Amino acid sequence: MPSLENLSCPIDDADLQLEGRSLRCPNGHCFDLAKTGYVNLLPVQNKRSKDPGDSKEMVLSRQTFLNQQHYYPIVEAILASWPNPQTSSAVRILDAGCGEGYYLSHLGEALEKHNIEVDRVGLDISKWAIMSASKRDKNISWIVGSNASLPVPDERFDVILCLFGFPVFEEFSRALDDSGSLLLVESGPRHLIELREVLYDRIHDYKPTYPDGIASFELQSETSKCFSFELHGQAQIQDLLSMTPHIHKASYEGKLAIQKIETMTITADIKLRWYRKKTGEK
Ligand SMILES: C[S@@+](CC[C@H](N)C(=O)[O-])C[C@H]1O[C@@H](n2cnc3c(N)ncnc32)[C@H](O)[C@@H]1O
Repeated sequence: MPSLENLSCPIDDADLQLEGRSLRCPNGHCFDLAKTGYVNLLPVQNKRSKDPGDSKEMVLSRQTFLNQQHYYPIVEAILASWPNPQTSSAVRILDAGCGEGYYLSHLGEALEKHNIEVDRVGLDISKWAIMSASKRDKNISWIVGSNASLPVPDERFDVILCLFGFPVFEEFSRALDDSGSLLLVESGPRHLIELREVLYDRIHDYKPTYPDGIASFELQSETSKCFSFELHGQAQIQDLLSMTPHIHKASYEGKLAIQKIETMTITADIKLRWYRKKTGEK
């Protein structure tokens, strides 16, 4: 069962206690659990728009695409690169910007098979993503919240995952234990190249992120994973397109060109970077 333990009030940072189906802080702030068990800890004053994060349609497309398991090699690559799994018997994981929960769910199952006890929290700013995640896996604490202000006490986690997401390093550092690790998974140079070649007239040069490092983190390992998969039919192709930023960036003509294709072989090219928190830095 999700513990919903060790969370902080998003209004005054006080500890939250689970009482019945609500999380309460000693100063009277109360957050009710939704029917599916998630909790919304994103106060209106922290929202930049009425419906922040991925839309209902994007979440549905991502879930449909991920459930076809084309991206399972990414789960395997994360597990293969996991730092010292054999030395830990318990791990507290935050998936920051977890989407509809595919990775956190699969990773937890795999780690448990290695007799590692996992306490998992999945957080996303999109209520649609968390609603969907809370139906996928009942063993995870699912929270609507923002990476910009994580509703958790200092040093709450051993590992923070940020997969194709929006990292906020100061917050990640604060929320990580001093011996904690951060995983960034991002697109590599040839990621979805076949899709991009149809959508755009010109492919921009690849620019690695954080070339000068990250202030509060030290790079521990960097690996790449390249694989390909087949998409059959417009429904599969449109699901992939709709879960990427290209759905907003591409021109009308580019999207029209995609609509004429029935089968595609797609390259996935991703980078996995594990960072260690620099101790003494929040
Ligand atoms: C590209 S999706 C990746 C989702 C998931 N990590 C995956 O790989 O399937 C980015 C996610 O970040 C979420 N997001 C955007 N801004 C955020 C923020 N400030 N805090 C938390 N999540 C955020 C979006 O709602 C979306 O679900």
